[in-house]
Amino acid sequence: MRKPLMAGNWKMYKTPAQTTQFFESFLPLVAASSHTGILICPPFVNIAAAVAATRGTNVSVGGQNLHTATKEGAFTGEISGPMLAAAGCTAVIVGHSERRQFFGETDATVLARTIAALESGLQPIVCVGEMLAERESGKTNEVLATQFREGIAKLTPEQFARVVIAYEPVWAIGTGKTATPEIAADAHRFIRGEVRAIYGDEAANNVRILYGGSVKPDNVRGLMAQPEIDGGLVGGASLDAVSFASIVNF
Ligand code: 13P
Repeated sequence: MRKPLMAGNWKMYKTPAQTTQFFESFLPLVAASSHTGILICPPFVNIAAAVAATRGTNVSVGGQNLHTATKEGAFTGEISGPMLAAAGCTAVIVGHSERRQFFGETDATVLARTIAALESGLQPIVCVGEMLAERESGKTNEVLATQFREGIAKLTPEQFARVVIAYEPVWAIGTGKTATPEIAADAHRFIRGEVRAIYGDEAANNVRILYGGSVKPDNVRGLMAQPEIDGGLVGGASLDAVSFASIVNF
């Protein structure tokens, strides 16, 4: 059985003080929630506050991106995997569609960052997903297959075993338009089939595939009722303690 994971992606929201306030409200609401992993990925400058607030709790902290190099170096403005790990992160989001759209992320850099994350002892949450025009022109599976084969499937089986995949259809992110549970499950089934083709049955049965894109307290149950959906990568609704707690406690 795959244990669910509910991950909050805070994007470029909240200050350190707001981070501390969030956890004061959030932690009591999820203290008894052992049915799922719980992860918050705040902006880099809030990681220290998040790690301090969650020490000894059932909530983990992750980064939203990392540099491809695992050695320190002259890369102004960048953060490495070992730095995230040393700061107390256990995971990191890689290849989010906003990074693909606005910051030149490619399948090749996704692969390099994923390897850097693994070498740093971090669990990579690797994002894939199609744009609206790609879905409308019937290219969804082709896009997902390319993103998987170029960005993920070059990992060794040992490396792949530590990866979480997030399916985030770009047209559903921040738009209030969730994929229906059936549309999401179809995409998850396709991705799991791709995993099976490269890594075999056991890896396909074990890999967690999260859904992301306008997950809210009122639609999380329908999504989680799909056996293919192993959790959520939640943007907007993870910023509010009560709303993210009700998602965690779906
Ligand atoms: P929203 O939940 O705000 O649609 O964002 C989804 C997302 O991009 C999570 O990574």
